[in-house]
Amino acid sequence: MFSYRHAFHAGNHADVLKHSVLIATLQHLTAKDTALMALDTHAGAGLYRLDGDYARTSAEADEGILKLASAASNASSPPLPALLQDYLALVQRFNQGAQIRVYPGSPFILQHLLRERDKLKLFELHPTDLRALAGNVAQLNAGRQVAVIQEDGFEGMRRFLPPPSRRALVLCDPSYELKSDYARVPEMLQDALKRFATGTYAVWYPIIPRPEAHDLPRRLKSAATKAGKSWLHASLTVKSGAGARPGLGASGMFLVNPPHTLQAALRESLPRMVELLGQDRNACHQLESGG
Ligand SMILES: C[S@@+](CC[C@H](N)C(=O)[O-])C[C@H]1O[C@@H](n2cnc3c(N)ncnc32)[C@H](O)[C@@H]1O
Repeated sequence: MFSYRHAFHAGNHADVLKHSVLIATLQHLTAKDTALMALDTHAGAGLYRLDGDYARTSAEADEGILKLASAASNASSPPLPALLQDYLALVQRFNQGAQIRVYPGSPFILQHLLRERDKLKLFELHPTDLRALAGNVAQLNAGRQVAVIQEDGFEGMRRFLPPPSRRALVLCDPSYELKSDYARVPEMLQDALKRFATGTYAVWYPIIPRPEAHDLPRRLKSAATKAGKSWLHASLTVKSGAGARPGLGASGMFLVNPPHTLQAALRESLPRMVELLGQDRNACHQLESGG
């Protein structure tokens, strides 16, 4: 069984990149009236306490969302770019008062931005996270809008494509605990694009010194290019991967059929993420697009 628990990492720099991109993407997609189906292939527990034992073990949010919050509340700091402001504002809506104690994972971010007519399918395999997710989702009283599904997300999402409304956003955010995840992500993308070529697909991945991880963006670009679809690739490095400071140093988001507004929003926000979240002189970002 998997040992990865997102609760240890909630609100870290990788979540800042992933969730700010997710919010900007969803804001764009929900600007159109037609119903949207959102699929979260690797959902996690849905809500996390930043003051709980898990999160405090490595205090990763201190170097992530909490850095942004502190910059936003500092009158002498320049205002955050819109993409980061929207992200922070959404997280703050899950909290009473200025202190951020509760952090919404992707299922709650998605549900928060969806309209009544939209649908959300959440896949989670780990029994502990599944129980937490089901309990958290039950509190929403969202009825049939949200389905929590204990299935392999790579497989399970296939049967929902194409969706009846012909509009979908798929977030694929595995824990990459299994080496096979690195191969399954581009395979899933290739298959999904065959089933539903106009969907928006967002893949998160860690940047770590492993050949499979290094190869992943190239494979994702190739899947998008073969399908003749546009793509956008953003990465954020906060510290050198090797060395005295343990923990993930960098990650990337790869989107197929991204909103046309996203590249400009990221061009404005990524340098600010580097400035605020960078931990050593290796901190940097990358932004590229194609198709
Ligand atoms: C990185 S976490 C998800 C975080 C979440 N997407 C967020 O942004 O808040 C990955 C989750 O995928 C679950 N998982 C691992 N393999 C899976 C699979 N094949 N299908 C569905 N869930 C899986 C893990 O138990 C873990 O909770």
